[in-house]
Amino acid sequence: MIFVDACFKKETPYTPIWMMRQAGRYLPEYMEVRNKAGDFLTLCKNPEMAAEVTLQPVEILNVDAAILFSDILVIPLEMGMELRFEKGEGPVFDKPIRTKEDLNALYEYPEERLGYVYETIKLVRDKLPKEKALIGFSGAPWTLATYMVEGGGSKTYANIKKLIYTDPEFMHDLMRKITEAVKAYLIKQIESGVNAVQIFDSWASALEKEKFFEFSWDYMVDIAEFLKERYPHIPVILFPKGIGGYLDSIYGRFDVFGVDWGTPIELAKKHLSDRYVLQGNMEPTRLYSKEATREGVEKIVQTMGAKPGHIFNLGHGMLPDLPVENAKYLVELVHDLTKR
Ligand code: CP3
Repeated sequence: MIFVDACFKKETPYTPIWMMRQAGRYLPEYMEVRNKAGDFLTLCKNPEMAAEVTLQPVEILNVDAAILFSDILVIPLEMGMELRFEKGEGPVFDKPIRTKEDLNALYEYPEERLGYVYETIKLVRDKLPKEKALIGFSGAPWTLATYMVEGGGSKTYANIKKLIYTDPEFMHDLMRKITEAVKAYLIKQIESGVNAVQIFDSWASALEKEKFFEFSWDYMVDIAEFLKERYPHIPVILFPKGIGGYLDSIYGRFDVFGVDWGTPIELAKKHLSDRYVLQGNMEPTRLYSKEATREGVEKIVQTMGAKPGHIFNLGHGMLPDLPVENAKYLVELVHDLTKR
C-alpha cells in the first residue's frame, strides 16, 4: 500500500494524499446517505451506511487512503455520557464531568460497546481496493477530555483548565481513564483490519507548553508506544493541532507527525523530518479556489520534495461547502507534481 509505505519513509511512485474530514457534507453522496440515516449518530452506528460513506471519497476523489467514518466522541458516548449534535452548535454533553462522582460513574470499557465501529471496519476493508489503506482513528485523551468537561465546544476551556491548575490529580485520573480506553479501542480497530491509526488532538493549542506535555502529549505518546510495541507494522500518526511553537520538544515512538496549517511546514521539516514522516498541511480554505490550491500545493511540494518523508493532507478538516471539483483537482495535482 502506497500510503503505508510512505508512513515508513519507503520509496513510492508518488506522494500519497488523503484529506482530514474527507467524508462529509460537501459530498452530495454523503448527504444522501445521512438523510436516509436521519441523523449523524445513527449513521455512525449503522455499519452498512458508515462503510458506504467511508468509501465515497476513495471512489470520488481517488485519495490513497480511506478514513473510517465515525466520530471521536463515540468514546465518551459509550462511557455513558449522553451526546447530541445541535445544528450550528456542534456536539453537546448535557451532563459534563466535573466531580469525582462524575468521573467514577464513567464506564471503564467503552471499547466493548463499540462493535458497530469494528463491523464498519470489516465491511470497508472487504470492499476497499487492495492498494488503498484504511485509517482508523481516535481523539487524543486531552481533546476528548475537553468535550467531556466543557460539555461541548469551548472558546476558553475555562472549566478544564481551572481543573488543571486547581486539581491536577483529578485531571490525571480522568486522563488515565480515557487513555486506557483509547488504547483498548485502537487495538480493537487494528484487530478488525485498519492499516494505520491517527490520533486527533484538535485542541492541543489550548495549553501552555509545560501543561501541553504533561496533560496531552505524554498520554498520546503512551498510547503510541503501547500500539507500536504490539503492532509495529501499523503506522501511528499523531496530529496535535496548533503547537507549532513547541516543535523543538517533540519526542516519542510513532511514525508520522501531522502538521496543521498554522505551522510553517519548513519549520516542521527543520525540527522533525530526520525522525518522523510529515503529513500535511495545506490550509483547507485554499480549496475554494483552484489557483490558491495550485499555489498551496506547489509551495508544499517544493519544501518537502517529490521524495519519501511526506504525505500530503490538509492542515485541518475539509469545510462543509467546498467544491468537490476542486478536491478532485487537488488529488490529481499532488499525484502529478510528485511523480517519481
Ligand atoms: O475525516 C473523516 O472523513 C472521518 C470522519 C470524522 C468525523 N469526525 C465525521 C464527522 C472524523 C475523523 C472526525 C473527527 C472529529 N470529530 C474531531 C477531530 C478532527 C477535527 O476536526 O479537529 C473532532 C474535534 C470531532 C468532534 C465533532 N464531530 C464536531 C466538533 C462536530 C461538529 C462539526 C460540524 O462541522 O458540525 C462533529 C460532527 C461530525 N463528525 C460531522 C462529520 C462528517 C458532521 C456531521 C453532519 O452534520 O453530518
